[in-house]
Amino acid sequence: MKNILAPSILAADFNHLGKQIAQVREGGAPYLHFDVMDGIFVPSISFGMPVMKSIRKETDLFIDAHLMIEKPGRYIEEFAKSGADGITFHVEADPENAADIIKQIHSTKALTGKSLRAGISVKPNTPISAILGYAADADMILVMTVEPGFGGQKLIPETVDKVRALRAFIDAEGLDTDIEVDGGITADNIAEINKAGANVIVAGSAVFNDDPLGSTKKLLSLIGA
Ligand code: DX5
Ligand code: ZN
Repeated sequence: MKNILAPSILAADFNHLGKQIAQVREGGAPYLHFDVMDGIFVPSISFGMPVMKSIRKETDLFIDAHLMIEKPGRYIEEFAKSGADGITFHVEADPENAADIIKQIHSTKALTGKSLRAGISVKPNTPISAILGYAADADMILVMTVEPGFGGQKLIPETVDKVRALRAFIDAEGLDTDIEVDGGITADNIAEINKAGANVIVAGSAVFNDDPLGSTKKLLSLIGA
């Protein structure tokens, strides 16, 4: 399974966003992680469709949208049209409709002409049993390694065991579902979380510091990507 680094632009300097995106691309990152917060599902508010559209015009990187919003089904089409390549939503944000939202993400192909990847996410206190039933239909499962809502937090160590258990399940079922981790990833723990079974790794503050190019290269080398 391919190891992928997904720099989270939440930690970027928005005065220099285009330049910093070019730097992580030059460093070899294949994905850009795009955190959408609504101030309800999580306490903070970040950015949305207009920002994604501007980025889409300028980059060929895979736009990995992470929707931290209530009732995410309301915005799937909007983000597909704005240029997302993958959309991940939280099972806690609409547990009854999770299966339909995965279908909705896949069916945006009719709208945009391209197949979007569908991801489903669990917060640190939600057991992976809440999403195992979707592992075959989703393309990716995002295991949050911090409470969603803010960048720059410390990874919660117990979440590493969730990644390990999920990887064991996916392998035992013979699935090729990606496992993404998000929050508190640094040069000191990226190899460990990768070894535990995560192959798509989000990093915000560890990338967008005073040297996004060098930090991207370093993190990629630590996961052999
Ligand atoms: C947190 C966001 C993350 C955040 C990670 O709710 O989903 O993507 O940007 O930031 P770091 O890597 O700084 O913990
Ligand atoms: Zn995120």
